[in-house]
Amino acid sequence: MASLRGELPSLMNTLLICVTFISLSCCEEFAKSYRRPNIVLILTDDLDIANGGLTPLSKTKKLIGDAGISFTNAFVASPLCCPSRASILTGKYPHNHHVINNTLEGNCSSIVWQKTEEGHTFPALLKAFAGYQTFFAGKYLNQYGHREAGGVEHVPPGWSYWVGLEKNSKYYNYTLSVNGKAQKHGSDYSKDYLTDVLANMSLDFLQYKSNFLPFFMMVSVPAPHSPWTAAPQYQNKFNTTKAPRGPNFNIHGKDKHWLIRQAKTPMSNSSIKFLDEAFRKRWTTLLSVDDLVEKIVKQLEIRGELDSTYVFFTSDNGYHTGQFSLPLDKRQLYDFDIRVPLMVRGPNIKPNQTSPLLVANVDLGPTMLDIAGYNVSKTQMDGMSFLPIMEGLVNSTGWRTDILVEYEGEGSNVTDPACPLLGPGVSECFPDCVCEDSYNNTYACVRTIGPSANLQYCEFDDNEVFVEVYNMTADPFQLTNVARSIEQEVLEKMNRRLMILQSCSGQSCRTPGVYDPRYKFDPRQMFIGQSWQQSRLRQKI
Ligand SMILES: *[C@@H]1O[C@H](CO)[C@@H](O)[C@H](O)[C@H]1NC(C)=O
Ligand SMILES: *[C@@H]1O[C@H](CO)[C@@H](O)[C@H](O)[C@H]1NC(C)=O
Ligand SMILES: *[C@@H]1O[C@H](CO)[C@@H](O)[C@H](O)[C@H]1NC(C)=O
Ligand SMILES: *[C@@H]1O[C@H](CO)[C@@H](O)[C@H](O)[C@H]1NC(C)=O
Ligand SMILES: *[C@@H]1O[C@H](CO)[C@@H](O)[C@H](O)[C@H]1NC(C)=O
Ligand SMILES: *[C@@H]1O[C@H](CO)[C@@H](O)[C@H](O)[C@H]1NC(C)=O
Ligand SMILES: *[C@@H]1O[C@H](CO)[C@@H](O)[C@H](O)[C@H]1NC(C)=O
Ligand SMILES: *[C@@H]1O[C@H](CO)[C@@H](O)[C@H](O)[C@H]1NC(C)=O
Ligand SMILES: *[C@@H]1O[C@H](CO)[C@@H](O)[C@H](O)[C@H]1NC(C)=O
Ligand SMILES: *[C@@H]1O[C@H](CO)[C@@H](O)[C@H](O)[C@H]1NC(C)=O
Ligand SMILES: *[C@@H]1O[C@H](CO)[C@@H](O)[C@H](O)[C@H]1NC(C)=O
Ligand SMILES: *[C@@H]1O[C@H](CO)[C@@H](O)[C@H](O)[C@H]1NC(C)=O
Repeated sequence: MASLRGELPSLMNTLLICVTFISLSCCEEFAKSYRRPNIVLILTDDLDIANGGLTPLSKTKKLIGDAGISFTNAFVASPLCCPSRASILTGKYPHNHHVINNTLEGNCSSIVWQKTEEGHTFPALLKAFAGYQTFFAGKYLNQYGHREAGGVEHVPPGWSYWVGLEKNSKYYNYTLSVNGKAQKHGSDYSKDYLTDVLANMSLDFLQYKSNFLPFFMMVSVPAPHSPWTAAPQYQNKFNTTKAPRGPNFNIHGKDKHWLIRQAKTPMSNSSIKFLDEAFRKRWTTLLSVDDLVEKIVKQLEIRGELDSTYVFFTSDNGYHTGQFSLPLDKRQLYDFDIRVPLMVRGPNIKPNQTSPLLVANVDLGPTMLDIAGYNVSKTQMDGMSFLPIMEGLVNSTGWRTDILVEYEGEGSNVTDPACPLLGPGVSECFPDCVCEDSYNNTYACVRTIGPSANLQYCEFDDNEVFVEVYNMTADPFQLTNVARSIEQEVLEKMNRRLMILQSCSGQSCRTPGVYDPRYKFDPRQMFIGQSWQQSRLRQKI
C-alpha cells in the first residue's frame, strides 16, 4: 500500500508563532487543553442489529459500547446506502437532500448533489467554521468516482485528507481516490484488503496529523456488504453459524404490501442454503472491522488522545436474511432494515449505558457539530443533537417521540425475465431469483417511540394506497398489520403527522409528535392532511 504520508500536505498551524519561541511539547500540551474534542465516526455498510449483526464485534462492543452508551432505538431515515449516507452527511431527510436512490439520476453523488448539498455537509462545517482537520477513508456515496460526476479527481469539499473508494463496496480490485489521485489495488491480502488498508491509513492520519487542531475522522468500511470477502485468516470462522430462525423467518406476509405478498413461501431450499452462507460470510468480514476498531482505539490511547475523543460506531442501514420470505437485502420498512447499531464513547459519557431514546442518522451531524461547539440552529439540518442524552441531561419525558422514514422503490425500466410477475423491479438470484424491490415499493413512515406508544405507521405510493401499521409493543416482529383493526383516531393522527413530516424542513421536523405530552393540535394542520382513506403521498419523495 502506498503510504498516505507523502500525500499529506503540510498543515497550516495556528500556533506556528508559539512553536518558534517555545518548545514543541509545551505548545502541544497547551493546545490540547484548550481545543475541542476529537471525533471519530466508524460507518459500516449494511450492518443489522435485529438479527445479531453485532455478535462478531466483541472488541467493538467492549471498546465503544461498554466504555460509553449503546442506543437500542437508533434508526435510519432511509434503508438504502446512498440516501442514508446522504442523510448522515447532510443531517436531512431524503425529501430535503434529494438523494433518492443509488444511481446518478437519483442524485447519488451527482453533479447536482455536488452543487447543492455537498458543500454544506457537517464535515464541511466542522472544517470551515469549527477549525477541525478532517479525514475521510472508505466508501462514500455509491456513485462516487463516476466519470459523469467528476471521476476520482473530484474531492468533496470539507475534507483535509481524502481517501474515497470509487463506487460501491469491494474488498479487492478497487480504485481509491487519494486526495484526487487514483490509486489502484489488486488482490494481495497484505497490501490490498480494503478494511485493513483503511485501518492502516487511519493510523497514518493519527500519526501525521497536526497536534494543534482537533480532528474529525470518518472511516467507512465495506463490511459486511456483498461480496462478503473475508480476510484469509477469518474465512472459515463461524462455520456452523446459520441465519437465525426468528418468528418472522420464512413467513408469508399475507397482510402486507404487494411486494411482500408476492414473495414465495416457503423459500426454496437453495435460497435458504444461499442466505445461510451469506449470513455466515457477512459475519466473517466483520472480524476485520473489529480489528480496525481495536487498532484505532489503541492508537488513540497510545497517543494520549482517547479521553478527548468521541468514537461513534454505526451503520447505513439494517439487513434481512429470510424475514417474510425475502432471502437477502434491505429496502423494506420493517425494523430489521431500518434499525441500526449505534454506540458512542467519549468525554462526559459514562460507561456501560443503554438508552432506549429515539435517535436517527439525521442526528449524527447535529450531534457532532454540537460537540464541536457549532450552533446547529444556524444550519438547515432536520435532525437534532443527542449529546444531551449521552451526557445524561435528558430522560424520556423531555425527548422527541417520532422520526420519518422515506424510501423510493428502485427498478430498472425493463421487466426482469427472472421476475415475470413484478414488472420493473430489482431481483436477486440465490440461485433462485427473488424480487426484492420494485418502483412501487415506495413508502413513507412515522416511527413513534415514546413513554406511551411504540408504533409504526406507513403509507405506500402504489395503486392500492396501501397502509401498514404495527403496534411494536404487542408485536415486535411485525407479524400483524393492524391498519384495519386499530382505532380510527390513531390512524387519523398518524396520517396527519406523516403529512407534516413529509413536508418538514429544519425546526418543523423536530416539532412534538402525536404521542409527545407536549403535542398540541394545530388547526392549520387540517389543511395538510386528509383522512387516511383518501391519503396519497402528498409529496413524492
Ligand atoms: C436532484 O436534486 C435536485 C436538487 O436538489 C432536485 O431538484 C432534483 O429533483 C433531484 N432529482 C431527483 C430525481 O429527485
Ligand atoms: C482481482 O483481479 C484479478 C486479476 O483480474 C483476478 O485474478 C482476481 O480473481 C480478482 N480478485 C477478486 C477477489 O476479485
Ligand atoms: C497494514 O500495516 C501492517 C503493519 O505495518 C502491515 O503488516 C500490513 O500488511 C498492512 N496491511 C495492508 C492491507 O496494507
Ligand atoms: C469448523 O472449524 C473448526 C476449526 O476452525 C474445525 O475444527 C471444524 O471441523 C470446522 N467444522 C466444519 C463443519 O467445517
Ligand atoms: C428442502 O429441505 C427440507 C428440510 O431440510 C426437506 O424436507 C425437503 O424435502 C427439501 N425440499 C426439496 C425440494 O429438496
Ligand atoms: C461494563 O460492564 C461489563 C459487564 O457488566 C463489565 O465487565 C465492565 O467492567 C464494565 N465497564 C465499565 C467501564 O464499567
Ligand atoms: C444559534 O443560532 C440561532 C439562529 O441563528 C440563534 O437564534 C441563537 O441565538 C443561537 N444560539 C446561540 C447559543 O448562539
Ligand atoms: C425527567 O426529566 C425531567 C426534567 O426534564 C424531570 O422533571 C423528571 O423528574 C425526570 N424523570 C426521571 C424519571 O428522571
Ligand atoms: C433512480 O431515480 C431516478 C429518478 O427518479 C430514476 O430515473 C432511476 O430510474 C432510478 N433508478 C433506479 C435503479 O430505480
Ligand atoms: C432504459 O434505460 C436505459 C439506460 O439505463 C436506456 O438506455 C434505455 O433507452 C431505456 N429504455 C426504455 C425503454 O426507456
Ligand atoms: C406494482 O407494480 C407491478 C408492476 O408494474 C404491478 O403488477 C402491481 O400491481 C403494482 N402493485 C401495486 C400495489 O401498485
Ligand atoms: C399496543 O399494544 C399494547 C399492548 O398490547 C396496548 O397496551 C396498547 O394499547 C396498544 N396501542 C395501541 C395504539 O393500540
